[in-house]
Amino acid sequence: MRLKDKVAIITGAATGLEGELMGYGGATARLFAREGAKVVIVDIKDDIGERTAAQMCEQGTEAMYIHLDVTKEDDWNQAIKKTVSKFGKLDILVNNAGVGAGNPVEDLTQDDWDWQFDVMAKGTFLGTKYAIREMLNARSGSIVNVSSIFSIIGSRGDSIYSAAKGAIHSFTKSVAVMYADKGIRVNSVHPGWALTPLSVDAFSDPNILNPKLATVPMGRLAKVEEIGYGILYLASDEASFVTGAELVIDGGKVAS
Ligand SMILES: NC(=O)c1ccc[n+]([C@@H]2O[C@H](COP(=O)([O-])OP(=O)(O)OC[C@H]3O[C@@H](n4cnc5c(N)ncnc54)[C@H](O)[C@@H]3O)[C@@H](O)[C@H]2O)c1
Repeated sequence: MRLKDKVAIITGAATGLEGELMGYGGATARLFAREGAKVVIVDIKDDIGERTAAQMCEQGTEAMYIHLDVTKEDDWNQAIKKTVSKFGKLDILVNNAGVGAGNPVEDLTQDDWDWQFDVMAKGTFLGTKYAIREMLNARSGSIVNVSSIFSIIGSRGDSIYSAAKGAIHSFTKSVAVMYADKGIRVNSVHPGWALTPLSVDAFSDPNILNPKLATVPMGRLAKVEEIGYGILYLASDEASFVTGAELVIDGGKVAS
């Protein structure tokens, strides 16, 4: 019960149905609930989000689904109000929602830039803004931002994605410093590759997957729970002296 009685919002967490391929958000929602948290799953995939929350409730954990497009300020405002009205507070925010579209730079468009920066950089900013307003009332809270190893090292395929993840990485550090004396911790997680709903199309092709795996010292993809456990640690009180940190979970890729 590492998160006993904590209330958590996780963005992009709809894909958490047991028996189906889960994403980092869905797997993290499951871990959080198992550790005693009340979990608010937010996403734009309403059907699977509702079914994930319902399945978690049937299994005896407390969960709720709310439609939230992370790029829309009003959605954030409403979702935080609904969370506090149902569960009484907000202890944890995980900014996990993400999108990706890799292409050579000369073929990318302004729309590619705006879309990825809107969902990942702006979405993380808006979530942080509204969560912090609530956390300041309690002078306590933990925000975990899902960045990527490609905010640290270069990516051959995803230049805008890595720039947007870089924005999350540096935003995390400034917000951590700004609120360190107000009881609010802010950290980032930098996952390597895993098979998730976001990556399954690309990674089902051995011509794409195998060259990637050849660059990972452990020679395999991450399991989604391996990322979830890192998020769980940073969200929990076990990390009470950890803020502004980056936790790389990548099978050794960044080190190599
Ligand atoms: N899969 C990988 O190899 C990998 C590696 C490093 C980082 N990541 C990051 O992990 C995070 C989770 O991705 P995943 O791979 O688990 O895939 P996923 O498809 O399970 O998660 C992404 C979720 O974000 C949601 N989303 C997209 N736009 C949104 C919006 N505007 N508002 C709200 N939700 C929105 C999607 O509906 C989806 O449910 C992403 O930030 C991704 O960039 C993934």
